[in-house]
Amino acid sequence: MNVPVVSVENVSVRLGSSIVLEDVSFSIESPLFVTVVGPNGAGKTTLLKLLLGMVKPFKGSVKVLGLNPFTEHSRLRSLVGYVPQKDKVSYETPLKVGEVVLMGIVLRKGFPRVVSKDDVESARRALAYVGMEDHWESFFNELSGGQQRRVLIARALASDPLLLLLDEVFAGLDSESQEYLINVFKTLRMRGRTIVIVEHEVDPIMELTDRILVLNRFVCVYGDPDEVLSEDKLKPIYPCLRTVESEGRRVFILGDTHA
Ligand SMILES: Nc1ncnc2c1ncn2[C@@H]1O[C@H](COP(=O)(O)OP(=O)(O)O)[C@@H](O)[C@H]1O
Ligand SMILES: [Mg+2]
Repeated sequence: MNVPVVSVENVSVRLGSSIVLEDVSFSIESPLFVTVVGPNGAGKTTLLKLLLGMVKPFKGSVKVLGLNPFTEHSRLRSLVGYVPQKDKVSYETPLKVGEVVLMGIVLRKGFPRVVSKDDVESARRALAYVGMEDHWESFFNELSGGQQRRVLIARALASDPLLLLLDEVFAGLDSESQEYLINVFKTLRMRGRTIVIVEHEVDPIMELTDRILVLNRFVCVYGDPDEVLSEDKLKPIYPCLRTVESEGRRVFILGDTHA
């Protein structure tokens, strides 16, 4: 692809009375795995919403897959998968796992929104991807938190998006679910998909990470992990940063700044 996957230039966003993103610029030129870290309230969720056209900047410009997220929203939504930050998405009407995934596919289609045989096939394939294919008939609300998150990721993946935006899908996940997700991410990366993931800790996804973006209202650092994760760059942003030596690797723990 010759247009950048993401291009954000001098963007500032105001929510209520506060400026939550200030003069943010970064670009993802080609398919990559980008990990966004930053303390609570840093604007990470807002950044993902910006890429989806869900929040509007009062300054600057945003292009995602060559599209303007505000004027070309529906076209963009069919190319981007999004898993919001939430421990439990619960549905008022009890929905089965298969229906949750199908809903994701159908909502991203134009009218008429009819479920086709292909859609069912795509939904089953996406569930198999995250190891949840045996749960088609299970009620979503009765699954464990980790299983629910896997289903939501399957829902985001079912339309085979070029860009996947994930908001803290790793935090607090059981190790089986983490393993499934790591494998899913590896496959997607191999297939040239771009993933932007917001997390508190870089370590569990370090092996996949091509670029790290450290955000704290503005972009503190953005670059290769080796370059970004030098303590002298991170210490001023994370006073509570801890580094631990583990199996010859330095592990960085970006502690929560809300004690
Ligand atoms: N709808 C809103 N109205 C006003 N302030 C908001 C709104 N949503 C988020 N904020 C504020 O914007 C800041 C950034 O929020 P968010 O993007 O959720 O941060 P993060 O995901 O990094 O924790 C926080 O201070 C939060 O309180
Ligand atoms: Mg958030």
